[in-house]
Amino acid sequence: MNQPIDFDQIDLMLPPPEQEPDRQYYFTAKAKRYAAEESARLGRPLTCCIQTFGCQMNSRDSEKLLGILMQIGYRETNDEHADFVLYNTCTVRENANKRVYGRLGYLNTVKKRNPDMLIALCGCMMQEAQVVEKIRTSYRFVDIIFGTHNIFKLAELWCRRYEARRDAVRKDAAGPGKGGMVVDVWDSADRIVEDLPVERKYPFKSGVNIMFGCNNFCSYCIVPYVRGRERSRRPEDILAEIRRLVADGVVEVMLLGQNVNSYGKTLDEPVTFAELLRQVDQIEGLERIRFMTSHPKDLSDELIRAMAESKKVCRHLHLPVQSGSSRILKEMNRRYTKEQYLELVERIRRAMPDISLTTDIIVGFPGETEEDFLETMDVVEQVRYDSAFTFIYSKRTGTPAAKMENQVPEDVVKDRFDRLLKRIQEISAEVCGRDLHTVQKVLAEEPDDHLDGYLTGRMDNNTVVHFPGDASMIGKIVDVYLEESKGFYYMGRTAGAGGG
Ligand code: SAH
Ligand code: SF4
Ligand code: F3S
Repeated sequence: MNQPIDFDQIDLMLPPPEQEPDRQYYFTAKAKRYAAEESARLGRPLTCCIQTFGCQMNSRDSEKLLGILMQIGYRETNDEHADFVLYNTCTVRENANKRVYGRLGYLNTVKKRNPDMLIALCGCMMQEAQVVEKIRTSYRFVDIIFGTHNIFKLAELWCRRYEARRDAVRKDAAGPGKGGMVVDVWDSADRIVEDLPVERKYPFKSGVNIMFGCNNFCSYCIVPYVRGRERSRRPEDILAEIRRLVADGVVEVMLLGQNVNSYGKTLDEPVTFAELLRQVDQIEGLERIRFMTSHPKDLSDELIRAMAESKKVCRHLHLPVQSGSSRILKEMNRRYTKEQYLELVERIRRAMPDISLTTDIIVGFPGETEEDFLETMDVVEQVRYDSAFTFIYSKRTGTPAAKMENQVPEDVVKDRFDRLLKRIQEISAEVCGRDLHTVQKVLAEEPDDHLDGYLTGRMDNNTVVHFPGDASMIGKIVDVYLEESKGFYYMGRTAGAGGG
């Protein structure tokens, strides 16, 4: 937000405005008043707990949702016995889904003990009609359901549910969902609502959405169906947000999109991602720029140049390959071949020899043969990734791959998965030690969970370093001498006066 909003000044006797974000400011003010009454009745502050599943998009959405809840007057807690519990869900693989159902069963027992509690579900799973249907019938204790396109409406939905329940209690209606579940899921979004409150997890680093949705329709992937078509934010809005973040103490931003390389194509005045990156690079006070995710088919030479010429863009690129077999890549609708991918890696490394490369790989896509799998192993051998996320193919209803015959038997997939993971870990351990005995810039992020008097931080290339330090260093970029390599991370010591 440009200016903090004074919600107490909003006149609730007037009808709610139609325009956004004013409409949401109105409902936030209203919710704030209800919450204050509730809190006075209970004689304690109200608490909220958000559980986030899935990717960086969801993490950023959760920061926005928490921003709204804090304005309403909630205090954040990690405890699911809170007054308001929200699950921000993911549906990219079947097990993400299963976890949510499992946890809901537990929440039901919590709510039986505290009937005033509100339970809300949002995120990618809620964009699936069959999921919402199942929750309506089998999980009737849920209070609010909304989707990925209308997270900005949380305060309004909260008011609707609160008023419905209050009225039902007055009329003494019975049943677990007194007053009825509030369900509001949109198929698509025609606009991007700017200027809503956000509550960042870290004071010194932040994700910044540059675009929403995806147009790629990789044949295995549900994201385009649950996140909608690609929409880019205007560069001026992005730059203004980052300037505000920097003024507020942020030194590192992560530019977020399902495919940042196609940023700007949908704007009235198209801009390339490389152009945006060069503009972000000029923001004074900003020290590090990261971005996620890069689709190999759209990674331009212009972007490689912009990265190489920048001192702030981190030397790390997440470049999902998914498979090493050109035949499978075609079936996946990835629109590059193994050779094109390897050639791209070579161009990137020529421009930035010290770059750290990471990837995503799917094992067991329908029709994957042993030969196809060996092609994937070959890419891993040739690229030598710093690390890789490996996934067992998961059938997602509604995607083209779900209808493909010749799904690979489970035991075959498991065997391939284990072989791949083992090789990735071996290479990772070899590659990751390469900066040993050098001094590196490390952003100190948090106290070490396991070692007293130590901090955990990240190098420019995203590798984790543990080093002795105190809380006053958190959020600062410090020189650290890497003393010992532990495979995936380093032990170090600050290389200030007398060190290094
Ligand atoms: N937009 C990003 C990633 C989106 S999802 C990209 O294009 O790279 C993150 C990862 O989940 C994907 O890279 C893919 O490896 C994996 N994934 C997506 N759908 C999957 C499925 N049906 N089964 C297994 N893994 C999947
Ligand atoms: Fe899914 Fe492909 Fe879009 Fe990534 S690029 S979100 S894998 S459809
Ligand atoms: Fe999951 Fe949605 Fe992200 S399906 S991976 S949370 S875009």
